[in-house]
Amino acid sequence: MKNVLVTGGLGFIGSHTCVELLQRGYKVIAVDNLSNSEIQVKDRITKISRENIVFQQLDLVQKDEVKSFFEAHAIDSIIHFAASKAVGESVENPLHYYQNNLISLLNLLEASKAYSVNQFVFSSSCTVYGQPDKLPVTEDTPKKPAESPYGNTKQIGEEILEDFCRVNPTFKAISLRYFNPIGAHKSALIGELPLGVPNNLVPFITQTAAGIREKLNVFGGDYDTPDGTCIRDYIHVVDLALAHISALEYADRMEENYDFFNVGTGNGFSVLEVIKSFEKVSGVNLNYEIVDRRPGDIEKIYADTTKVNQKLGWKAKLGLDDMTHSAWEWQKTL
Ligand code: UD1
Repeated sequence: MKNVLVTGGLGFIGSHTCVELLQRGYKVIAVDNLSNSEIQVKDRITKISRENIVFQQLDLVQKDEVKSFFEAHAIDSIIHFAASKAVGESVENPLHYYQNNLISLLNLLEASKAYSVNQFVFSSSCTVYGQPDKLPVTEDTPKKPAESPYGNTKQIGEEILEDFCRVNPTFKAISLRYFNPIGAHKSALIGELPLGVPNNLVPFITQTAAGIREKLNVFGGDYDTPDGTCIRDYIHVVDLALAHISALEYADRMEENYDFFNVGTGNGFSVLEVIKSFEKVSGVNLNYEIVDRRPGDIEKIYADTTKVNQKLGWKAKLGLDDMTHSAWEWQKTL
């Protein structure tokens, strides 16, 4: 069975992916610099899966440490989550984002070449599309100039991988363009742990319902959508984790050596629909108010999932109520 290196393995999507890998018999070697995650997540992963992971605290920007790590561990495949992901912070501190997200990718690719690791799954984002002219958005949609340094690191990351694959024919890489991951594991032992005040919608909703925040601001009620609020393709984090396993399996049989996929449900929901779903599953009346638009937000985006359904044989199974319910169950444990 494969030894899979999961970078950012104690983070939100990484931890859920470790669980699903372990439950399918993969050996998991996780690294994380713990900048946006907690060490106790490691034991939670073990508690759910009843399997151990190998864990090392590692900063992938440190080239020599990456090299020593590869020297010490036999790795067959890499799932690379470790990255900074706050859009606003990336505008404030662009160099940190380029440094952290791109140097780490370069170091991993160099080590992959040196130690003959030939499978790589990269965390990309629907942010590479900007506001698409046509919906749903397919993988053929031309990318728009990135709206933030964070988004730019995802675009450049995909280009680095494609260039690297061109000259390394035995190296197979897949970029997964995530839409909006939310929800938590059904055990409520792992979930999203936002640092400070959350920027993203669902952690803000659950923290407001829990009394940690006074009120949710809904950014913009005058968009060209049925209820005036923005539309996104929310995907359950466990479905997203499973897409990574399908990608690893696909890497064994793919003919070309670089490919990229949308990972969403194909359904768009408005902010008010997410709030309604949350209120229904939690029984909590949410204190919210429609305020001005948030600068930089796109009006609507949702995925065409034909390519990922057909080529990877993966399809999202969980619906919006599963997402909001599991997010609430997780919040109640915090
Ligand atoms: C952003 C990033 C995306 C990243 C994702 C998860 C962009 C364009 N998008 O997505 O790349 O993967 O975060 O980190 O860079 N909202 C409110 N009130 C709030 C918070 C959000 O109304 O307090 C609304 C937003 O206006 C938006 C929706 O909820 O319409 C979703 O927002 P959010 O969860 O922040 O995700 P995105 O901005 O879509």
